[in-house]
Amino acid sequence: MNAPSSNESSSQRLLVGVSGGIAAYKAVVLVRRLVEAGCEVRVVMTEAATRFVTPLSFQAVSGHPVRTTLLDAEAESGMDHIALARWADAVVIAPASADLMARLAAGMADDLLTTLCLATEAPVHLAPAMNRQMWAHPATQANRALLVERGVVMHGPAAGAQACGETGEGRMLEPGAIAEALLQSPARDLAGQRVVVTAAGTREPIDPVRFLANRSSGRMGFAIAAEAARRGAAVTLVAGPSALPTPAGVERIDVETAAEMQAAVESIESMDLFIGAAAVADYRVAEPAASKLKKTGEAVSLELVPNPDIIAGVAARAERPFVIGFAAETDDLREHAAAKRVAKGMDLICANEVGAGKGFDRPDNALLLLWEGGEHVLAQAGKERLATRIFDTYHQITQVSDDASS
Ligand code: PMT
Repeated sequence: MNAPSSNESSSQRLLVGVSGGIAAYKAVVLVRRLVEAGCEVRVVMTEAATRFVTPLSFQAVSGHPVRTTLLDAEAESGMDHIALARWADAVVIAPASADLMARLAAGMADDLLTTLCLATEAPVHLAPAMNRQMWAHPATQANRALLVERGVVMHGPAAGAQACGETGEGRMLEPGAIAEALLQSPARDLAGQRVVVTAAGTREPIDPVRFLANRSSGRMGFAIAAEAARRGAAVTLVAGPSALPTPAGVERIDVETAAEMQAAVESIESMDLFIGAAAVADYRVAEPAASKLKKTGEAVSLELVPNPDIIAGVAARAERPFVIGFAAETDDLREHAAAKRVAKGMDLICANEVGAGKGFDRPDNALLLLWEGGEHVLAQAGKERLATRIFDTYHQITQVSDDASS
């Protein structure tokens, strides 16, 4: 989310979802606050929400027509629901009823709002509001925990007097508090840290015009470098051949072979965090030919010799950074990745299935993150979104070890 601090104007594109509950009237105030702060806001209401507040109220404060149904031919011919899901920098559902949370947790797409939540790569924020017993119910708490595990950000609920006459936890946070949280600066949680990222594949020459290579586009590593820079780190990206532009605020060193990548990484003496997303060739041709190999009609064989392992070298440094690596596997993902993490001395490994159109050279991916004593399953998502989850996990791990050592 490219959000400036709350006392500046914001240019965020926010999709505000409103589900059915008495707190829906407060969402009108929320939308107004967000629009006043400079956000562009589109509102989507569930059918139940329209029983509490009319779409016209939200249209008046947002300045845009409100969408309430998935199968609306006229609205879909403008910005269809997939385009709307992609348009949003963030999705904010306020109020989020118990029913809506259950449907999100179950991965349902039975109305426009839940469909958008499945289709978006943007962060999803929920401001729950419900009766205190409904909030405390184990089913709701299990849904909350599952949604948080998947990266949903919860705002509240608050405790206090409820519309039903009871008192307890379940009130929606006040619109001002939700707006303030949404308008805060993006996390600068890597400020002061030196981060080195490798990306893309290497090319190992056979002769002056031919090489051994792989299908890595660099997308994953470039997305990681971009996210680290957004979070305030000083980032060096050591990149194999890639057509991608250098992310803003990132220093880029272009290399071609594994040996050049290793030399570039070794030239960086001090780093806090190393992330090896590059698909480094495990082998190179022992003696590349000085001239173009001639076609003889006979079978030829190439002698391959192992390349140095870049990530293992970084992990073996006397003053080692936190080391994150990847595992690209076609089978037995978990077992191979777990063994690779230990063998190369990584703190965290991001395992992906590759081959058959998976992992390499595509905008999205699914990852299994493994570290000592923990794991996260990251469902299929854009590589930008995966990059944010990798840094969130890095903070989770380093915070736990900080707490343990203090
Ligand atoms: O670039 P994209 O098109 O976006 O595709 C992304 C990706 C599939 C390349 C990426 O998600 C990925 O899996 N990168 C690592 C690919 C790889 O080389 O995996 P590996 O299992 O062979 O290597 C394990 C780890 O050791 C990797 O972190 C690798 O960078 C590192 N390594 C490998 C060999 C070597 N000589 N030196 C290394 O540092």
